[in-house]
Amino acid sequence: MARSRRPLIAGNWKMNGLRADALALATGVADGVRSAGWSDREVLVCPPATLLAAVAEAVKGSGVLVGGQNCHVNPNGAHTGDISAEMLRDAGVSHVIVGHSERRTDCGETDAIVRAKAEAAWRAGLLPIICIGETLTEREANRTLTVLETQIKGSVPSGATAAKLVVAYEPVWAIGTGKTPTTAEVASAHAHIRRVLDGLMADAGAVRLLYGGSVKGSNAGELLAVGDVDGALVGGASLKADEFLAIAKAA
Ligand code: 13P
Repeated sequence: MARSRRPLIAGNWKMNGLRADALALATGVADGVRSAGWSDREVLVCPPATLLAAVAEAVKGSGVLVGGQNCHVNPNGAHTGDISAEMLRDAGVSHVIVGHSERRTDCGETDAIVRAKAEAAWRAGLLPIICIGETLTEREANRTLTVLETQIKGSVPSGATAAKLVVAYEPVWAIGTGKTPTTAEVASAHAHIRRVLDGLMADAGAVRLLYGGSVKGSNAGELLAVGDVDGALVGGASLKADEFLAIAKAA
């Protein structure tokens, strides 16, 4: 079943990268993907907004996809400092991360806002990567599956189909900490996410579910071998071309 869903390895660069380093990184990833010649997996990089157009240009023709890290819900207007999904699309982008836990925490993004952002992505012709995940407190209180269910039901717009979204499970306590859930915990979370999606859409079995949180070259094989894990959303390890390519190779 897992192989019927083409794995997606996505690098979330977060607020990292000045032009020279970022272009070297993008070129390194593009060269690696070009020489690997993968047609059975997708590789995506999500640089900061200032570098989107330059990175899109740098990876052109390599097969590497480019995504934004956030978008506004509106197409344009008086929203100083914000960027719309249409603007991302105009910069050469095909995907956008919405509802990352750092934005849920730093910017107070609720499930309703995340859902509106996913709809904005659709409006602009982008594929949203909808992020969900429990905090350590929630996990320790045995609330993980309930929290995930609430986030999915609140963040996934109606009218969703497998071709129109990707879901990323990122336990908040695993992000940037070097800690990862056990493979059994990942399997349980992903199976639950798919069950909840099944109540919302007709083809939930075909939705790609990414795992994110301290993924690196050395643990990618194990995490990506879990049933219902269809790729990875990678933070820190996506800032080094070799490390990121090692994760893509493991897919
Ligand atoms: P790390 O891979 O650095 O833990 O970050 C994960 C993440 O937040 C990706 O969106």
